[in-house]
Amino acid sequence: MATGDFKRAVLVTGGAGFIGSHLVRRLVKNYPDTLVVNLDLLTYAGNLENLRDVENAPNYRFAKADICDAKQVNALFEQFKFEGVFHLAAESHVDRSISDPMAFVKTNVLGTGVLLNAYRAYRADGGKFYQISTDEVFGSLTDEGFFTETTAYDPRSPYSASKASADHLVRAYHHTYHLPVVISNCSNNYGSHQFPEKLIPLMINNIKHEKSLPVYGAGINVRDWLWVDDHVAAIDLIYHQGKTGETYAIGGGNEWRNIDLVHFLCDEADAQLQRTIGASRKLVTFVQDRAGHDHRYAIDASKLQKELGWKPSVTFEEGLRLTIKWYLENSDWLNHITTGNYQEYYKKHYS
Ligand code: NAD
Ligand code: DAU
Repeated sequence: MATGDFKRAVLVTGGAGFIGSHLVRRLVKNYPDTLVVNLDLLTYAGNLENLRDVENAPNYRFAKADICDAKQVNALFEQFKFEGVFHLAAESHVDRSISDPMAFVKTNVLGTGVLLNAYRAYRADGGKFYQISTDEVFGSLTDEGFFTETTAYDPRSPYSASKASADHLVRAYHHTYHLPVVISNCSNNYGSHQFPEKLIPLMINNIKHEKSLPVYGAGINVRDWLWVDDHVAAIDLIYHQGKTGETYAIGGGNEWRNIDLVHFLCDEADAQLQRTIGASRKLVTFVQDRAGHDHRYAIDASKLQKELGWKPSVTFEEGLRLTIKWYLENSDWLNHITTGNYQEYYKKHYS
């Protein structure tokens, strides 16, 4: 095993993305005896600037590779004999899945199959294959009810259908080949380092530049928001203490209509930018709705709370204030993305 001084090696796929970079940071800092290998293709969504603070840590390695490429993936598994895999690499944006569904079928379904085969062939004992999934596999709720671990799958976008297919593959490999797996389905994450195509960073960036704020349909769709560091804390807990073969639903219990959230972002950003409160609300523009737009997501996370003692650490309002502050203070990070410069970081620092 090429883990040198380390007790074990774990693989994080998609570690240069939003949630993956928060997870890599946590694992590198909290488990110094574990070698954390970040496999990422650096698609438009991958940004190594997200990991500046840990890139020189002794227990961190980066590998630029494609999860769909069995040769690349197998070579990494042969080299490191990973004990565990945290699988986050994916095409993750619903709007892109509507315009280019096959990219989602390829990465999210085929890529997961390639990783499962490699894990089956080369893994070291003691860990788990952890599939980081989404609540969108359960479909859309009316104004009543919650998703739980036993809710039937009913995906309605190419993105959620591809994630559902991947989840099915993971369960099939558990039942057929007895692979130790675990799956969690999480609600909408927010926080620092999220690619500014997703609702919250997009709106903050547009407010900052006084550009229009595109709200889909009537803005009455509901999402259940979770602070990204609370999600990665749950992943850490589930990987180490969760039961093999089980599923865990993760959610913040923060249901907000999109329009109310956008108004909150406007008023709080106005306050932080010392503008007249209410000025940014004038930028809201109602635009054509997303095709097949799911009405509501809401998670009942009581299994995770009762069995593993997890609970969110910040209120939504508190987390949003910190998130707005981060994007306003890190304009270089945002500008590098909007100008495309962030893709130069790999060339400059790694090749
Ligand atoms: P993201 O789009 O920010 O990051 C995805 C990462 O995967 C990027 O770094 C990208 O370069 C990498 N990647 C894409 N294709 C790849 C390939 N073929 N090979 C290797 N790397 C590849 O995504 P995110 O929002 O951080 O989501 C991470 C995971 O969590 C996804 O699986 C997503 O389905 C799931 N999830 C996200 C949320 C959310 O609110 N963002 C909620 C629940 C679950
Ligand atoms: O529920 C978990 C999912 O949350 C994850 O699996 C996905 O990877 C993640 O992208 C997110 O999906 P959503 O589609 O809910 O997130 P998004 O930020 O794209 O949109 C949030 C809501 O805001 C949704 O109802 C659509 C709406 N919206 C979005 C954008 C980008 C707008 O009204 N205007 C916009 O410009």
